Amino acid sequence: MAEVAATLVQQLSSLEFDDKVSIYSLMLSRNSQLMASFQVQDTDSAYGDEVSAYSTSLTSSVLSYQFENGRRYHAFRNGIYLFPNDEVEADRLDLMHEMTLVIMNRKLFIAPLGDSPQRVLDLGTGTGIWAMDFGDLFPSSEVIGVDLSPIQPSLVPPNVKFLVDDIEEPWLYNAPFDFVHGRSLACSIKDYKKVIRQSYELSSRTLTRKETAQQNLSRNVAPGGWVEFQDWDMQLYSEDGTTSQTSLENYCDVVFSAFARAGYSTSPGPQLERWLREAGFEDVHAQRYKVPLGVWPKNKYFKTIGSWNLLQAETGFEAAAMAILSRNGGWPKGDILDLVDETRIDARSSSIHPFFYL
Ligand SMILES: C[S@@+](CC[C@H](N)C(=O)[O-])C[C@H]1O[C@@H](n2cnc3c(N)ncnc32)[C@H](O)[C@@H]1O
Repeated sequence: MAEVAATLVQQLSSLEFDDKVSIYSLMLSRNSQLMASFQVQDTDSAYGDEVSAYSTSLTSSVLSYQFENGRRYHAFRNGIYLFPNDEVEADRLDLMHEMTLVIMNRKLFIAPLGDSPQRVLDLGTGTGIWAMDFGDLFPSSEVIGVDLSPIQPSLVPPNVKFLVDDIEEPWLYNAPFDFVHGRSLACSIKDYKKVIRQSYELSSRTLTRKETAQQNLSRNVAPGGWVEFQDWDMQLYSEDGTTSQTSLENYCDVVFSAFARAGYSTSPGPQLERWLREAGFEDVHAQRYKVPLGVWPKNKYFKTIGSWNLLQAETGFEAAAMAILSRNGGWPKGDILDLVDETRIDARSSSIHPFFYL
């Protein structure tokens, strides 16, 4: 193992900087697999190999988290993602996962995958909760979750692995995927179209959700693969004008325009269908879900979703605003917290009736 690792390090050091970044995850992956085979000999646990998944792949550069304004941020490719990666944020992402399951009638995906999808890639996997649920649902699949932050648990289903990598860099996977999944990447990545193009190269059908789009790609690669993107329209909507001139409206204007100025894709949802077609996909289908914020809806389904959304927003307003406004807008922390507090009050109010679309 030491010999192979040394060869990899040697290969790495002979590369130019850009190449170093992109082969990084490959090296981590190989190391993890090597470590896995050692650990399997040592333990009866079905989780033995996954326990090691990060033990060799985490280097100090990946773990040297940045601390700022009371929050923790990713280290690998420092500064490119502006939400925190601490426990508070991990809890929020798991709340969002539950909310999305409610929205989707407890489906993890809507692509017609059949009974035995094999290779699956989850882009920007976050806490890895979707990847782990998927791995549990299809024990014969091999699921890879990739993220800038190694914040996923170490005890995971034996068919799930996590890699630290930048999905906006060229992908180096050497085999196509049966399913590529990306969820809630709004305000996370800059070149969403490029990520879709890379998915195109690695699969043979696509389905996204709002936008949800599906398509049969008869040319290229093995038939039967699918792609599903689940992402946000961050435009603030209200059917009765109650969001007008609120702190919530002000927050959305200030924060999302700051993300847009910094070059992030802030509202990918409504554009996914077009981006998929532009990437070369055909027969694209899209689906849109209404997502209220708050407990105000009378309908039970929407009230449940609105309640989950309010719960995640309790910490989400700060998570989204802190780095973008302080780093890019020069806002003092106190002013950001004031903006967040006022916005939270509006979100809790039953007389303000906001919603977004997924
Ligand atoms: C809002 S979270 C969504 C997490 C997960 N997809 C989910 O739905 O629970 C966005 C995630 O994308 C990751 N991310 C952002 N930019 C990335 C990049 N360039 N490469 C890999 N991951 C990235 C972040 O670290 C974060 O975990």
